[in-house]
Amino acid sequence: MRIGILTGGGDCPGLNAVIRAVARRSWANGHEIVGVREGWRGLVEGKLEELGPSQISGILPRGGTILGTSRTNPFGQDGDVERVLTTFSDAGLGALVAIGGEDTLGVAARLHAQNGFPVVGVPKTIDNDLSGTDYTFGFDTAVSIATEAIDRLHTTAESHNRVMVVEVMGRHTGWIAVMSGIAGGADVILTPEDPETIEDACARLVRRHDEGKDFSIVVVSEGYELTYASGERRLVAGEALESDQFGHVRLGGVGHVLAKEIEERTGYETRVTVLGHVQRGGTPTAHDRVLATRFGLKAASLVHEGRFGRMAALQGDAVVDVALEEATRELKRVPASMIAAAREIA
Ligand code: F6P
Repeated sequence: MRIGILTGGGDCPGLNAVIRAVARRSWANGHEIVGVREGWRGLVEGKLEELGPSQISGILPRGGTILGTSRTNPFGQDGDVERVLTTFSDAGLGALVAIGGEDTLGVAARLHAQNGFPVVGVPKTIDNDLSGTDYTFGFDTAVSIATEAIDRLHTTAESHNRVMVVEVMGRHTGWIAVMSGIAGGADVILTPEDPETIEDACARLVRRHDEGKDFSIVVVSEGYELTYASGERRLVAGEALESDQFGHVRLGGVGHVLAKEIEERTGYETRVTVLGHVQRGGTPTAHDRVLATRFGLKAASLVHEGRFGRMAALQGDAVVDVALEEATRELKRVPASMIAAAREIA
């Protein structure tokens, strides 16, 4: 069988490790691998390339994706779904491995449900917000990068008696903020799941300074809504709430507004670091390389067994498979117990 493989949505460390594992097990099973360029756009526009051992060699530690990616949504344009199906059959493909987050896998689930499309999914995202799997690969790397940044900010915060606000990604969940905030010893952690008011957060900073600590670290999720004691709530997003083909607004900028609020309300000198795409770049951690590899091996087996409409997933320590719909059923939020731990320790 000729098996297509694509990576869609925002890139993240570990994508190449999945590609490598899918290819290796599929070759061992007697199949061929065809790379689809730039996510679903590659099937819409017919951008395919044969993948052999030389293309796969040396990619395990490489960040990004050798296939390129995009946020193309074939359900967003008239005729694109038909183009996807035509490219797929013209190339003689018998199956597709789609590696992506809620958008890419949402398209895969819909194509499978509506057209019987032979696809299996692999869950990726630094945000860790997909249901059906305990963790996605890419998340551990993002948390490690954010934690290292917080460690570094501690020393300069302490030297200058400053408040340092660190804005991290994660879209509408606070996984990266909570994990890096706990690991880095942040003093305030603000997330969409636990929208503490600005007034309460500032009161905590003042208390800490009154107790003799004259510097603080505040970690804020890009998706935290500025929340005030008055009940007002405000999401900070890109210009005119600009959205992509899947309808997501571009988040970012809450750190700057928050820093201004903190400085005005407490009088403490405050600086901001927006980690941005640094969290998605570079080599995957060992943990993510292993998880990505296990997911890739599982996806190759699902294809070989003809078990389409399924997604590789981590449950406890086991790599299992779940229905593709499961991944996109609902946003996986940070559980209350983890939020409580963050509150207690920060
Ligand atoms: O979903 C991954 C993610 O990095 C989010 O955390 C972030 O909001 C978004 O992608 C950024 O998207 P883009 O790369 O299109 O700016």
